[in-house]
Order: sequence, then structure tokens, then C-alpha cells
Amino acid sequence: MKTHARAIRRKQRDRRSLAIATGVVGGLLLATGCYLWLLGAGNQFHGTIRASFNLVESDGQPVTERSFRGKFLLIYFGYTSCRDVCPTTLTSIAAALDRLGDRAQQVQPLFITVDPDRDTPEVIQRYVRSFTPRLIGLTGTAAELHRVARQYGIRSTVNPDLTLDHSSVIYLVGKDGQVIAPMQADEDATKLAHILGNYIS
Ligand code: NI
Repeated sequence: MKTHARAIRRKQRDRRSLAIATGVVGGLLLATGCYLWLLGAGNQFHGTIRASFNLVESDGQPVTERSFRGKFLLIYFGYTSCRDVCPTTLTSIAAALDRLGDRAQQVQPLFITVDPDRDTPEVIQRYVRSFTPRLIGLTGTAAELHRVARQYGIRSTVNPDLTLDHSSVIYLVGKDGQVIAPMQADEDATKLAHILGNYIS
């Protein structure tokens, strides 16, 4: 009887610590605001992706994938209120392109929002300009942004504090519009520049 009671108490204790651990992990994820869904951990890239989109540039002009023909695209999905992962990634992209010197002319980096309600063309324009004049921010209708994100296997969810969790992957798209390589968004600028250098001439 005693042993049984002890076992039950132990079980209750275990359950309590599991609940606390879950709470702590959950809290951390929410606190980061921008939890990484990286390659191999839920990324849904399978084989061929062709870039196709009908969006609005940060200056208000409509753009499609054909607007950037003849260039490699470096596509990253995120949102302007993101507190850490998006700014870190965009800073690395800007630094990596700087490292490529003249060769960076062949690459057009695009930041596509997963938050159409808040990321109007004006908001996104101000945001991308704070990283590098090379970067173009794209927004659009919620339906089209959702469709485009799905094409790339990008997932996003809204948290109660209105931060978003979203997949964090950088896609390099070839001049023919095909995705060449998905890259980890947490690579540093040197590594990113090295990977890009392998694909562009
Ligand atoms: Ni983000």
C-alpha cells in the first residue's frame, strides 16, 4: 500500500515536472517570436519548386516572377515585426551579397511577408531599406501570399501575442525560375556567400 502511494506520488511529480518542462519550452518558443522550422525539422521541400507569384513590390508596383528574369532570386519569407530571426537572416543575406562583390549583381534578394495585415507596401519598404538597398520586399493579398508560401512549404501560425512562428528557410532560385537550393537561414554570412558562390558564375 505504502509503495503504491509512493508510486502514485512519484507519477504525479513526474507529470508535474513534465507540465513545467512543456510550459518552459512553450514559453521560450513564444518568447523568441520567430521559432525556426529548419530543414529536416518540418520543412516540406520535396524536389522541384517553380517560383510563381503575383505580388506587390514595396513601392506599390505589381510584380511576378517574370519581373526578375535573368537574375537568381534569393527568397526569404518572414514579417517585419519579427524580433530576432528575420532581422538576423536579412542581415546575413545583406552581408553575404556584399562579400560576393560584383557577382552579387546577378542575385535579387526578395523578402516575402507572411503577415499581409501589418506588412503594407509602406511598412515593408521602410523595413527592407534598413538592411540593404538591394533587398526588395513583397506583399500582396492574403490569399496569394498564402498560396505562394505553400508552394515553398512555408508554414506560419499566429501566437496569442500576435507574434508569428514561421518556417525559416532561404531559397536560391535559378534564372529559369526553378529552386536550386534551400539553405538554412541560420548560416552566417561567410557560409552563405560560399554556398551562393558555388551556384552563380
Ligand atoms: Ni521571422
